[in-house]
Amino acid sequence: MASDKGFRAKFRDSDVAVTFRDLILLPGWTEVEPSQVEMSTQASLNHSINIPFISSPMDTVTESDMAISLARLGGLGVLHRNCTIEEEAEMARKVKRAESLIIKDVITISPSETVKYATELMQKHNISGLPVVQGEHLVGILTGRDVRFADPSLLTSDVMTKKVITAPADTDIEGAKEILHKHRVEKLPLIDKEGRLRGLMTIKDILLRGRFPNAARDEKGQLLCGAAVSPFDLKRAKKLSEFADILVIDVAHFHNANVFAATKKILEEVETDVIVGSIGTYSAAEDILTKLDGVAGFRVGIGSGSICTTMEATKAGSPTVYATAQVADAVRTYGSKLPIIADGGIRGPGDAAVALSLGASSVMMGNLFARSKEAPGTLITIGGRYYKQYRGMGSPSAMAKRLATDRYAQPSKGLPEGVEGWVPYKGEVSVVTQELVAGLQASMGYSGARTIHELWEKARLAGITNSGAEEARPHDVLLPSEHPDRV
Ligand code: XMP
Repeated sequence: MASDKGFRAKFRDSDVAVTFRDLILLPGWTEVEPSQVEMSTQASLNHSINIPFISSPMDTVTESDMAISLARLGGLGVLHRNCTIEEEAEMARKVKRAESLIIKDVITISPSETVKYATELMQKHNISGLPVVQGEHLVGILTGRDVRFADPSLLTSDVMTKKVITAPADTDIEGAKEILHKHRVEKLPLIDKEGRLRGLMTIKDILLRGRFPNAARDEKGQLLCGAAVSPFDLKRAKKLSEFADILVIDVAHFHNANVFAATKKILEEVETDVIVGSIGTYSAAEDILTKLDGVAGFRVGIGSGSICTTMEATKAGSPTVYATAQVADAVRTYGSKLPIIADGGIRGPGDAAVALSLGASSVMMGNLFARSKEAPGTLITIGGRYYKQYRGMGSPSAMAKRLATDRYAQPSKGLPEGVEGWVPYKGEVSVVTQELVAGLQASMGYSGARTIHELWEKARLAGITNSGAEEARPHDVLLPSEHPDRV
C-alpha cells in the first residue's frame, strides 16, 4: 500500500507546483514611487545586505572578482567549491582583504629582510607598501617608491622611510582623512602608546568607502563574503569559516538523513552563519527547524535553474516559486526568523519580485550573473556577438573536476544533472544589478511595497495560462533582435 489513503490520493492531495512562468504580480494600491523603495534585507540570520541579490556558488559565476564587485554594489557572492580547500580559502581571503576600515592583520616586514623579498611580498599580496616592524614595534615604512630602483640585495632597513606618520589606535575615519591629507601620505599605521603596530588605514580604503556607500560590509568595514561547502567536508567548512561570513551547505537535496547528520557536525563546530539547502518542501523546512540547531537560513528551490536537468532526468524537483511559498509558511508557522534565499530560474527583476513576494528575503542567480565580466567563465564570440560560458555544477564538464561531485546523490554521479552552454555578455556586473534594481523597484512600486517585508504582506499574485504568458511578452511586432538584416 502506497499510503493509508491509497494511490489515487497521491493526485487528490497534490498541489500544482507553479513556476515563475505561471504567475503575475497584481498591481495594488500604492503610495510608493519606485525611487522610494528600500531594498535592504537579511542574507542570513546575522548578516544583512543592501540589495537582495546573491550570486550562485558555481565555477562559471562566483570567484573573488564577482564576490568583491557584488558586495560593493550591496549584494553577496557565494564562492564555488569546485576547487581545493586552499583555493577556495584564498578566494575568500582575497574578498575579505579587498578593503577594510582598519586592516588588523597587517602584512609587515622585518628590517633585516632584503628588498628582493619585500618586492615579492608586495606582489604576492597586491599591496603597495609594508610597515616595517621589529618584533611588534613599528620602525619604518617601505613603499613601492622606496624599492622601485633599489638594489634587490639591500636590506629593508637601508631603503625604508624611518620617519613614519602614525596615529593612535582609536583614530576614526575623519581623523585619518585629516592626517593623510595634511602629510600627503597614503598609508597610516596605527600604534599604541608603546609604539606597537595595532592596525593600518589606507587612503585606498577610505576612497572605496566613499565610492561604494551601498556596499555590504561586516562590522570591520570588510566586504561580506559567502562560501559554499559540502556537508561531508568538515575540514573545508572549518577552514572557510576563518574567512567567510556565511557558509552555504551546497547539496542538491538537503532533506536527506546523511546530509542532516553531517551538517549537524558542521553546525556544532563552526561559529559562522550556516545556510542550509537546497530544499523545496514544507516538511523539509519543518524537519530542519525541529531537528537542526544553529541554522542561519535556507536556500530554496530544486530543479528550476536554467542549466538544470534534474527534473528532466529524475522527475524530482520543487520549482523555486512553489518551494519558496512552502518554506516561508513553515518558517512562519514555527515563529522562526530564518531568511530564505530563493534560488534558480530567475530570468529578470519580475521573477525576483515574485520570489520575494512569496516570503524570500533574497534571490540567488547563476545565469544572469554569469553574463558579467567578473564571472570566471570564458568569453567567446558567436556570429559576431559576445557570450560567456555558463555551466551547471552537475554538468559533465564541471563534474569532471571531481571536486564537488557530492553535490549530487551518490548513485547519480554517473548521471549528469546539468548542461553547459553560453549566455550573452553584458559587461560589468554593475550593469546586471542596475537592471535588476530598477526593475524590482518598479515591481515593488506596482505592489505598493516600500520594503521587502511590506512586499510579503501586500503583494498579490495571479496565475496565467500559456496563452496569457504569450500576451505578456511583446507580440505582433517584428523586434530589432529578430530582424534578419539587423546590424
Ligand atoms: P539559474 O536559473 O540562475 O539557476 O541559472 C542557478 C541555480 O541552479 C542550481 N544549479 C544546478 N541545478 N543541476 C541542477 O539541477 C546543475 O548542474 C546545477 N548547477 C547549478 C543552483 O541552485 C544555482 O544556484
